[in-house]
Amino acid sequence: MKMIKDVREYLDHLNKQGYLDVVEDRVKLSHIPQLLAEQEKTGNAVIFKNIEGYDYPIFNNLFGKRAFLASVFECPIENVVDIFGERMEQRIKPVMVDNAPVHEVVLNKGDFDIRKFPFIVHSAHDVGRYITGGMVIAKDPETGVRNCSFNRMQLKGPDKTGLRMSPTQDLESYYRKAVAMKKPLEIAVVIGSHPMCLLAAACGPARDVDELEIAGALCGEPIPLVKCKTIDMEVPAYAEVVIEGKIMPGEMEDEGPFGDFQEYYIETMKNHIVHFQCLTMRKNPMIQVIRAGSTDDITLLGSPREAQIKKCLTANNVDVRAINIMVCKNYLTCAIAIHKQYEFEVKNALMMAFGSFKFLKNCIIVDEDVNVFDPADLFWAMATRMRPAEGLLVVPNAMGFGRDKYGIHTTKLGIDATAPFNEWQEFTRVTVPAPEDCEGKE
Ligand SMILES: Cc1cc2nc3c(=O)[nH]c(=O)nc-3n(C[C@H](O)[C@H](O)[C@H](O)COP(=O)(O)O)c2cc1C
Repeated sequence: MKMIKDVREYLDHLNKQGYLDVVEDRVKLSHIPQLLAEQEKTGNAVIFKNIEGYDYPIFNNLFGKRAFLASVFECPIENVVDIFGERMEQRIKPVMVDNAPVHEVVLNKGDFDIRKFPFIVHSAHDVGRYITGGMVIAKDPETGVRNCSFNRMQLKGPDKTGLRMSPTQDLESYYRKAVAMKKPLEIAVVIGSHPMCLLAAACGPARDVDELEIAGALCGEPIPLVKCKTIDMEVPAYAEVVIEGKIMPGEMEDEGPFGDFQEYYIETMKNHIVHFQCLTMRKNPMIQVIRAGSTDDITLLGSPREAQIKKCLTANNVDVRAINIMVCKNYLTCAIAIHKQYEFEVKNALMMAFGSFKFLKNCIIVDEDVNVFDPADLFWAMATRMRPAEGLLVVPNAMGFGRDKYGIHTTKLGIDATAPFNEWQEFTRVTVPAPEDCEGKE
């Protein structure tokens, strides 16, 4: 893979492949959400260069098509999941550098106002503007292990945001340790990270793993890091913007409503507060937006999960031919096509899939002649091959997606929509005849 140094080189790379649209027209920030939603239908990444009243451009949809990663990994689209799976198991430690583009401008408290950056309102009934494309870097207060995550952050002042961390997030466990030590948790919010850092941050590996080492493995080279100016933290040297701050123990305020990735509003809740004391950036930074629930968002979260699930099945000799965890516009339902080798193996494969990703709620397994990227084809397999009395696996009282007042995510549904084993004579799909199939027939 050719090394892409930062998000600018990634956007250049997409541009050369015809995967980037550049909008030069002057646009109001309030028009951006609808424009982005329209733009996302093309699948292309986009830069809005000229936003009325704001000094900086925004970019969006870094992961709009599977083809983007295929072009970076220089492989066919169907191989991305395997390359991703191999690399996410490897580690390349970051390297420290002294001079970093992200330190071209250094602004201390009182000299910056995060509200002057073109962060957007994501959904119609959101309480305000949010940072979603910020990668939060924190260190375990006991072990010093770094963690990267995404957290929605409601703008609440020139140097203050709300921050949501779910109870299962590593960041939350770091926060609890900091509270026990009676000290704030220092965080750096990185905007405009290398896309491989973003994918690594979404991996959710074991708690003692530094995601920036996974980012290095995804790139095939170490990620250059620089020390922060006011906190004991290291951040990607080629990022666009870094905001250095602290989550204060016990300080909570109302946050939300906010439209989340499931296309529902999360009601107002008490969430944590971050106070920022320093902002560093490139001279002309670009601001990343990740629209909640967009293909961009779901691909970012789903790609590592697909790799994880496929690796687990393959390690147990299930012959996986294709996998798609984005089939239902979120990453809670997965479709997997296999070449069935044994009677009853589908149930085992379903259990493995649920075991390898705890949020997975529904999983459908089909034969290799079914297109997992086409929901109609999956319904065809259910209509013509699934035997509901034998083919369903229902697992109640299992852990699932956390925000779940009505118990919608605590039961898993597995669907075996494969044809009866070794009965291909009756279950071979009809195809449109080629000329040689027609010629010579009366
Ligand atoms: C755009 C985006 C926004 C997200 N917002 C949140 C959030 O507000 N709170 C949360 O707990 N997880 C959020 N997530 C999911 C986590 O960041 C993600 O699961 C991550 O892997 C968790 O990392 P950690 O367990 O290492 O802390 C978001 C993910 C994305 C892609």
